[in-house]
Amino acid sequence: MKVVAINSSPNMGKGNTSLVLTPFLEGMREVGAGVELFYTKKLEINPCQGEFNCWLKTPGKCFQQDDMQMLLPKLVEADVLVLATPLYVDGVTGPMKNLLDRILPLAQPFFELRDGHCRHPGRNGSKDSKLVLVSNCGFWEMDNFEPLLVHMQAVCKNMGSEFAGALLRPHGPALRGMKAMGMPVDDIFEAAKDADRQLVEDGRMSSETLRVISRELLPLEMYVQIINQRFQEVLDALEKE
Ligand SMILES: Cc1cc2nc3c(=O)[nH]c(=O)nc-3n(C[C@H](O)[C@H](O)[C@H](O)COP(=O)(O)O)c2cc1C
Repeated sequence: MKVVAINSSPNMGKGNTSLVLTPFLEGMREVGAGVELFYTKKLEINPCQGEFNCWLKTPGKCFQQDDMQMLLPKLVEADVLVLATPLYVDGVTGPMKNLLDRILPLAQPFFELRDGHCRHPGRNGSKDSKLVLVSNCGFWEMDNFEPLLVHMQAVCKNMGSEFAGALLRPHGPALRGMKAMGMPVDDIFEAAKDADRQLVEDGRMSSETLRVISRELLPLEMYVQIINQRFQEVLDALEKE
């Protein structure tokens, strides 16, 4: 099984997104999947220029010479695509959106009806692929992920791939702090590791496992109080400098 993971957090391996992504990919490697991880921050992926050359003048090829030339064949080959992104203004980060826009060469310009809905036929034959979303956000509530989930499910329908589920970590910044303080959060990392084993072995992740990854870490009011206190401390310290 080939897995391509893309992490679009500018904090890369030190970010909160990585806290859940790392055990997830680790588990995949342990069950024998070939995993390649890319950070958008290390890639040059320019925005789509919207001139449709990849459909018309040079079908299947974008004129922009950047890292999408290397990434596109890997995306075509992948059995599982893992998109990891912190929630940015209720959606994916800008670099992740640029990357998604640049998959246009994989589609043909024509329209076809799939389940009574307009779609573009693929260019590289049809391969059964799955997409997994990994995300974390600063706000406390799970409902912050709703627009992102709707987007990712729509992307899957557009690409003709299966949405295999999402590892979502609300009040994500708390996880790092609690881990550093030695508080009991290992169940979350274990669940992330287990989720990918389930995906590789059973083709799906159990809703109970995904629920553990998203579980409440601390009550809403306490989280708001701690976050506000931390920001105030930083502001006060900066003012004194
Ligand atoms: C530009 C920007 C936009 C953000 N937008 C949201 C948001 O809409 N909702 C939310 O809950 N958190 C939002 N956040 C907070 C991040 O999702 C949060 O800090 C996350 O833990 C960052 O993950 P990382 O450490 O992997 O980069 C935003 C952060 C930034 C920098």
